[in-house]
Amino acid sequence: MKKLALILLPLAYGANLIAGERVASPDGEVVVDFKLSDSGQPTYSVSFMGEEIVRPSRMGFNLKEKDPLTDGFRVDSISRGNVDDKWTPVWGENSEISDRYSYMVVHMSKPLEGEKEIGKMDIEFRAYDDGAAFRYLFPEQDCHEFVITDELTEMAMGGDYTAWWIPGDYDTQEYEYTRSRLSEIRGYSEKKHMENVSQSSFSPTGVQTSLMLKTPSGKYINLHEAALVDFPAMHLNLDDSTLTFVSWLTPSPDGTKARVTTPFRTPWRVVMAGDKATDILASNLIYNLNDPCAIEDTSWITPVKYMGVWWEMITGKSAWSYCDAENFDLSTFDYSKAAPHGRHGANNENVRRYIDFAAENGMDQLLIEGWNVGWEDWFGKEKDYVFDFVTPYPDFDIDALNEYAHSKGIRLLMHHETSGSIPNYDRHMDQAYDLMKRYGYNAVKSGYVGNILPKGQNHYSQWAVNHYLRAVKKAADKQIMVNGHEAVRPTGLARTYPNMIGNESAMGTEYQSMSPAHVTILPFTRLKGGPMDFTPGIFRMDLSTFAPGNHEHKRATIANQLALYMTMYSPLQMAADLPEHYAEKMDAFQFIKDVPVDWSESRYIDAEPGQFIIVARKDKNSDNWFAGGVTNEDERSATLSLDFLDPSAEYEATIYADAPDAHYDTNPEAYVITRRKVASSDAIPVRMAPGGGFAISFRKL
Ligand code: NOJ
Ligand code: CA
Repeated sequence: MKKLALILLPLAYGANLIAGERVASPDGEVVVDFKLSDSGQPTYSVSFMGEEIVRPSRMGFNLKEKDPLTDGFRVDSISRGNVDDKWTPVWGENSEISDRYSYMVVHMSKPLEGEKEIGKMDIEFRAYDDGAAFRYLFPEQDCHEFVITDELTEMAMGGDYTAWWIPGDYDTQEYEYTRSRLSEIRGYSEKKHMENVSQSSFSPTGVQTSLMLKTPSGKYINLHEAALVDFPAMHLNLDDSTLTFVSWLTPSPDGTKARVTTPFRTPWRVVMAGDKATDILASNLIYNLNDPCAIEDTSWITPVKYMGVWWEMITGKSAWSYCDAENFDLSTFDYSKAAPHGRHGANNENVRRYIDFAAENGMDQLLIEGWNVGWEDWFGKEKDYVFDFVTPYPDFDIDALNEYAHSKGIRLLMHHETSGSIPNYDRHMDQAYDLMKRYGYNAVKSGYVGNILPKGQNHYSQWAVNHYLRAVKKAADKQIMVNGHEAVRPTGLARTYPNMIGNESAMGTEYQSMSPAHVTILPFTRLKGGPMDFTPGIFRMDLSTFAPGNHEHKRATIANQLALYMTMYSPLQMAADLPEHYAEKMDAFQFIKDVPVDWSESRYIDAEPGQFIIVARKDKNSDNWFAGGVTNEDERSATLSLDFLDPSAEYEATIYADAPDAHYDTNPEAYVITRRKVASSDAIPVRMAPGGGFAISFRKL
């Protein structure tokens, strides 16, 4: 039930608001203060539980050939209200989400010096119990188009917080995290990241959002943005002399940041806050700041558990391409005359083998990469027309394979690698989606590897951001679900377009060898914007034993890989390893078969970024519960109280644990499975090996 109180306060006192205006969260713990300086400069600050976590910070923009929107403002009126609402996500960690906040919209104007100036700018603030947010609104006015050259929004930190960060980069988030004090970012960045980040986007104090922070007093803060629509993605640049972040927008090719047509609302700038780490994990603030679902009939949007003809290419066992060829013209190249190199993974026989295994084991879909022509010439070439997304290789019988999959009760999952050529994808998108419909595909993994074309564009510029959403909306029109890799990191738009069931936009399993801490950080950062196609479930850790020459080892235990299905929430989950590796360990694979990908309730039990996460979740479609935990390189023990279980029932718990001698580096495949009857009054001891974890299914008896 929505309760809304709206009060519009016209301000008789005119120009300056020195005394300030305040909006506080329903529980009173999050407080946002707004002020205008003597010169009419808007500023805000945020406090949480009495601590000023964001000190007074300036707001505004520089514009091309126009007066900056930084000062000279007066406040014309302020509207205020409270909202107490609930909404039902199509998929998610909980079947219902509460949306409760107080808001304040400050309507400002400044005397126009010319008709072409922007005279009206409003700032909308919201205070939730789990954080504060604001966005700029440009009402309809005489000047209806302008160009932003810089956003000047500051977030002045209340102290030298600990940060878990990745470097600012206009094109990728595929980095491991660094943990450091804010004042140490420059030093680490110059040592570790200078060479990796492309020079155009290197700033020694630039970081990406979502940025996880912890104050010396033990409060947890997260800085991100929500509802990134028709605007460039925001990174943050730190002025380390004052510990003040300044918004750092991804530029367009001409160096400007955004072209805006009024009326317009910018994405939200968000400061999430909690006094426990689990508060950040449980927060729905980013989703709450997004618009409600825009798709009327969502019955076709379903969670997806899938396998893929994929890991064998990633590890080097087989190839995406069909033959060896280079620098050819796709429209004239004749594959039927080419000599296959014999390592093509997406061939009929191999795909049938995967279909059999996936169908026998209850998967919903099977991804096949390398099914379509063009892979000989795609990587690092900056070639415009690389793929047509509709022509299969000669050894991939798209008709027969789809029929075979459907006859076994599963679907094939489409793959569109664009190799960064957005114009080429745009020109083929209709026919590509239509081909999917023709054969019964209802989900696509898209990808944007390499530099974005046309040259000068970046992965996170306004134009590219618009493309990703266009692709999602067009897919929705055709009832297709999208899992975008290398697209801009999510900002909660999946609430509005729930057919966006996945994104990569972070370092996932394909890196094969990451620090065990990585998966204890992602849920605090990348996952705050939406689910990640992390691709867990690797069982064979020594990759050289099946992909000769690949000496990267997955740096996790098998129990850790199982736990990821719970700690890395996503409605799209892959069982990423090869059928033959699962076949060797069917007892452990049982957990992947059983684990749901949609939940009615989630409880984050304990966590600390960079160290561990423990969560329990209830299946949306049964009375069964599941629990999982992951740890960094440190061994850890805990007692798991089962008070989340129904007190009137008994459950059979199947516990997938690290063996006593398991270790992510030296003995990663050692696990022990035990079974016992439990009740809600019980507590189970759980132990996680270095780089390990645990996974438990609780079947209601
Ligand atoms: C990068 C993606 O993240 C990966 O999953 C995919 O297999 C390759 N690109 C090829 O498209
Ligand atoms: Ca990737």
